[in-house]
Amino acid sequence: MGVADLADYPWDAVAPYAERARAHPGGLVDLSIGSPVDPTPSVITRALAAATDAHAYPQTLGTPALREAIADWYARRRGVPGLTPDQVLPTIGSKELVALLPLLLDLRPGDVVVHPRAAYPTYEVGARLVGATPIAADDPRTWPTATRLVWLNSPGNPDGRVLDAASLRAAVARARELGAVVASDECYAELGWDAPWDAEPIPSVLDPRVSDGDARGILSVYSLSKQSNLAGYRAAFLAGDAAIIAGLLTARKHLGLMLPAPVQTAMVAALTDDTHVARQKERYRARRVVLKSALESAGFRVDHSEAGLYLWATEGRDAWQSMSRLAELGILAGPGHFYGEHFPLHVRLSLTATDERIATAAERLHGD
Ligand SMILES: Cc1ncc(COP(=O)(O)O)c(C=O)c1O
Repeated sequence: MGVADLADYPWDAVAPYAERARAHPGGLVDLSIGSPVDPTPSVITRALAAATDAHAYPQTLGTPALREAIADWYARRRGVPGLTPDQVLPTIGSKELVALLPLLLDLRPGDVVVHPRAAYPTYEVGARLVGATPIAADDPRTWPTATRLVWLNSPGNPDGRVLDAASLRAAVARARELGAVVASDECYAELGWDAPWDAEPIPSVLDPRVSDGDARGILSVYSLSKQSNLAGYRAAFLAGDAAIIAGLLTARKHLGLMLPAPVQTAMVAALTDDTHVARQKERYRARRVVLKSALESAGFRVDHSEAGLYLWATEGRDAWQSMSRLAELGILAGPGHFYGEHFPLHVRLSLTATDERIATAAERLHGD
């Protein structure tokens, strides 16, 4: 498959439900997309405003200040000490990296890319782009010998599932046995809700309990879109195996995949301030409590969702029927069908709506 063969976004299928939900007299509550609604913190906007003179080309590698801030953040927030500047690399948001990684790693037809069973769709897109075979499989023992790249996603989108250190360790061990690269997409790691993740950090694939301090074959992929309300800046990065990162850097230099200089400066401000992240987490915590209890009172079961930005809910019937019921209440969700073939009975509801919209959704659900 080439770029021209990529299917259009499946959201067209949702349009009739959106139309019905919009017709609700109290207005639409759109919980279908995880796009932040709260303002970008001023500590970051100020840094951006002070960095608008950007006459020179930015460094694909990232400024020394940015690389240092990324390494310090992994040590401080993720329990990953000792990363060196050649082990980190900024990306233009993480979606481009997710889509391009199979290409940048030179994967070919016949190679297998493994991704979670309930999955962010871009893992599959990236595999198909190079003619590789995507396989949705969570159990490392089932990963085939042709596997060259394994995507992990913890906390997961759409299901909010967290992989503990032992599960990550088993995944890394199996990938090493296969000679595959493990890329762990960890962008919701600051949003842990249920025990033990409300109290202890959600482990990174680079955690020494997982990697034994050996980053070979391992990449941690991270994004500031959610935790810092920076989706519009396109601010993300990866960390891990220095040799892989050197190869990615060379390719990305050739392709012009460099992060704008003002955004690099803004990222340093975001990565060195934990206060705004904690504040944002509390906003999402409050919304989650309200929405989760309302869904449960309306007869939904919320599965996993112990961390991250979504509630993964089911009524035990086809997602399109749940979409229909929710649309009657003026609420738009995302059907499980969009996240692979394994969860047709689930819907995903995002916590990225204002307090007022979440309260409105909850009121309608309680009254249903
Ligand atoms: C699991 C996962 N990975 C990557 C991304 C992409 O984030 P961004 O491109 O904004 O960094 C998202 C966005 O929703 C996501 O849910």
